[in-house]
Amino acid sequence: MELLYDNLAINEAGHLTVGGVDAVYLAEKYGTPLYVLDEDKIRQNCRLYTKNMAEQFGEGSLPLFAGKSLCFKGLYRVIEEEGMCADVVSPGELYTALAAGFPPERLFFHGNNKTDEDIRYGVDSGVGYFVADNYNELDILNAYAGEKGIRQKVLLRVTPGIDSHTLEAINTGKVDCQFGSPIETGQAARFVKKALAKENLDIQGYHFHIGSQIFDIEPFCRAVNILLNFALEIRSELGFTARIFNLGGGFGVRYADSDPQIDIPANIRALAEHLKEACTKCQYPLPRIYMEPGRSIVGNAGLTLYTVGGVKPIEGYRSYVTVDGGMTDNPRYALYKAKYTVLPAGLMNDAADFTCTIAGRCCESGDLIQEHVTLPEPHRSDILAVLTTGAYNFSMSSNYNRLCRPAIVMVSGGQNRPAVRRQTFEDLVACDL
Ligand code: LLP
Repeated sequence: MELLYDNLAINEAGHLTVGGVDAVYLAEKYGTPLYVLDEDKIRQNCRLYTKNMAEQFGEGSLPLFAGKSLCFKGLYRVIEEEGMCADVVSPGELYTALAAGFPPERLFFHGNNKTDEDIRYGVDSGVGYFVADNYNELDILNAYAGEKGIRQKVLLRVTPGIDSHTLEAINTGKVDCQFGSPIETGQAARFVKKALAKENLDIQGYHFHIGSQIFDIEPFCRAVNILLNFALEIRSELGFTARIFNLGGGFGVRYADSDPQIDIPANIRALAEHLKEACTKCQYPLPRIYMEPGRSIVGNAGLTLYTVGGVKPIEGYRSYVTVDGGMTDNPRYALYKAKYTVLPAGLMNDAADFTCTIAGRCCESGDLIQEHVTLPEPHRSDILAVLTTGAYNFSMSSNYNRLCRPAIVMVSGGQNRPAVRRQTFEDLVACDL
């Protein structure tokens, strides 16, 4: 049976363990559905980026954790301890980071449509950087920074216009896309010119994001080349030299054994070599490099545990195995047909000879977790584990059908502790007047 990651194992009872803790024990202790996060794995992932980015790109280059992938207070404490910065994309993510005591000067405030209130909230909170998506937000940001008597540090988001060949819905670097200002059409140059003219904005550099779940550096290198050419043009036209290049999201993770195994340090090294060579060639001073990994920090540190409700064979078609969660805690199959590995957490040594579809409990035929799954034939009350659910599961969860969001439990050093409590029915009606 494919375990995908080195923090997963099988114990003498034939149960799946995560970070050395028995998954069936966790399901019994905390109930299901349950998100389990391996804190040690998260720290290990953070260090892959912090250490290698500083070594390869130079002092001051570092990763910012992309909170959109997973956002709750306890996680920000881990991210802070690991010396990372963080990007927030909404006032809610900003609030969560601040509530966790995350230093505001280490926050980068993203968003392609920051409202006036968002902008004021960000400035009032003292966020380190705004990542301005387009010229619409420059006037108000400049005016409000002036009112507060500060010069707000800003990165400008531009679109390099490349296709990173990832899923269409998460392919964000193309010209025709709602994020950033495209280089190709000349809009990015006008955006930079306008930004540089704002007296209360301290323009530090550029940001791009080419997509998510990317496994090699080739699209990053292409985007860097385009950005560097752009930066050179701006330097010669406007005399502005960028101190920072923010290359956006991190690398992909394995959801199934068919996904490639990626060597993050080797990729960072190769990307740094490419960048250094390109900068030397055109005599552009090497900028500080930021990246914004989310998925590759928390994705493989998480799994979800479910209890089986039963097996329903539809004769002549297939067998559905129902679980006590679904698209409410993991909408990624319904949205993207995303791959996942499903394991029988309590029967890891049994022969897997039963092919089935894992269905959730929502009133929609699209509420599936995965199709064509092979398991030992499940029975009511068995525990199933879905791997690699640390990123974009809890953060994309919903209360559809008025289902409660699951709890998150963290494991570390063989111990476990609750990190987010399970929602209650009272939570569900808490905002109803
Ligand atoms: N920075 C920016 C500006 C982004 O838009 C994203 C992801 C990231 C960083 C983090 O990228 P990562 O390292 O996680 O690949 N809901 C989709 C993913 C959407 C990602 C959008 N942006 C999914 O479940 O696959």
